[in-house]
Amino acid sequence: MEKLVIEGGIPLQGEVKISGAKNAALPLMAATLLCAGKHILRNVPDLRDTRTLIRLLENLGAVVERKGDSLHIDTTVLEHGEASYQLVKTMRASVLVLGPLLARLGKTRVSLPGGCAIGERPVNFHTDGLRQLGAVCTIKEGYIEAEAERLHGATIYFDIPSVTGTENLLMAATLAKGMTVLKNAAREPEVGNLVDMLNAMGAKISGCGTDVLTIEGVAALHPADCRIIADRIEAGTYLLAIAATGGSGRVTGCCPADLPSLVEKLRYAGLKITEEADTLAISWPGQQQTLLGVDIKTAPFPGYPTDLQAQFMALMTLCDGQSTVHETIFENRFMHVAELRRMGAKIKVDGRFAVVSGQGMTGLRGAPVMATDLRASSSLVIAGLAATGRTDISRIYHLERGYENLVEKLTGLGARVWKEQE
Ligand code: EPU
Repeated sequence: MEKLVIEGGIPLQGEVKISGAKNAALPLMAATLLCAGKHILRNVPDLRDTRTLIRLLENLGAVVERKGDSLHIDTTVLEHGEASYQLVKTMRASVLVLGPLLARLGKTRVSLPGGCAIGERPVNFHTDGLRQLGAVCTIKEGYIEAEAERLHGATIYFDIPSVTGTENLLMAATLAKGMTVLKNAAREPEVGNLVDMLNAMGAKISGCGTDVLTIEGVAALHPADCRIIADRIEAGTYLLAIAATGGSGRVTGCCPADLPSLVEKLRYAGLKITEEADTLAISWPGQQQTLLGVDIKTAPFPGYPTDLQAQFMALMTLCDGQSTVHETIFENRFMHVAELRRMGAKIKVDGRFAVVSGQGMTGLRGAPVMATDLRASSSLVIAGLAATGRTDISRIYHLERGYENLVEKLTGLGARVWKEQE
């Protein structure tokens, strides 16, 4: 197994280009299952998670070819409609094939994802929603079994906006008979990317970017050529890494409008953030590099993203004074705290609340730490870059799920970072 070694304390400088968004690529790849034909997806990041979904598509009978940053996906022949436990257990987003397979084949069997490192993560919104669309949906031997000759439209209300729940029901409803209305739907930019792709395939969806999505079912869809949006979580991670090291730089190829809450919080902390068309530039307004404590409450878009909570906590340990975090989305998303403490951070946790007593920009020391999930791991990378001395992060396969060319990108910003065998 590989580990990541960081010799910290170097201010990051320069420019980093953001890749396509993992959490947009996955639903768009699943959407290619909705109709037979040759689809092209552009700006698809080459990550462990996208490779897992390619394996799943291939297992279903699709032919997938990567050409540069594009994926050519031929879904003309589907041999079966089953997503096995073997594939779903390695990536719970595999559940995204449920809606498209049911809509196209009238029958599917998808392994029920288990809990994960950040919480229980049920899929009841997905299954209840499909039932409202007319499917017979049961859980048998660890699998979701769903069947419907043809789905029909329905009005579906989400108790909590769910990203993949919205995506699964959107895809299923495109081919349903009649009108579907999704209320309190997720407004994340990745959902918007999926709506654009589905409309390019011939679907009739309105309300993009709002929490009410209306889908007028169509009889058939056709393949599309679509571009994956920039990864806002990757962009935010690099902004936080540059800030934590006292550096300055430009994060290019991103969409500033997708990171409204992070930009405001960084400004509040005392950083200068300049928004350009596809670039966020970060610098320090004066000579002094000190940061104010910040309070963060995670929330569905446009609120502060839970996927950037752990990374901001690394920065909070370097602020002057106290910061707080209220994690409202997942019940167990503080796994990074114990590891940050090993690097000298002072953090108290009570349920879904954390209080961070910042110790200034020189507050962290390198240490051996362990990655526990994707975003927790990236917070340890930020802490390692900011700390004095050497940090060894084990279990970096978590990082490889979501950060394309991490070592190369950080090296390009001047960091001393490399992989080693454990
Ligand atoms: N929820 C339910 N029932 C459901 C579905 C969700 O109660 O059937 C609850 C969840 O437990 C959670 C809340 O609803 O409390 C929101 O969860 P959501 O369904 O939005 O999460 P998700 O769709 O499973 C996606 C991202 C996550 C990201 C969350 C929240 C993908 C592939 N995954 O997950 O990304 O944290 O939305 O924004 O889009 C990551 O990239 O590291 C990651 C975990």
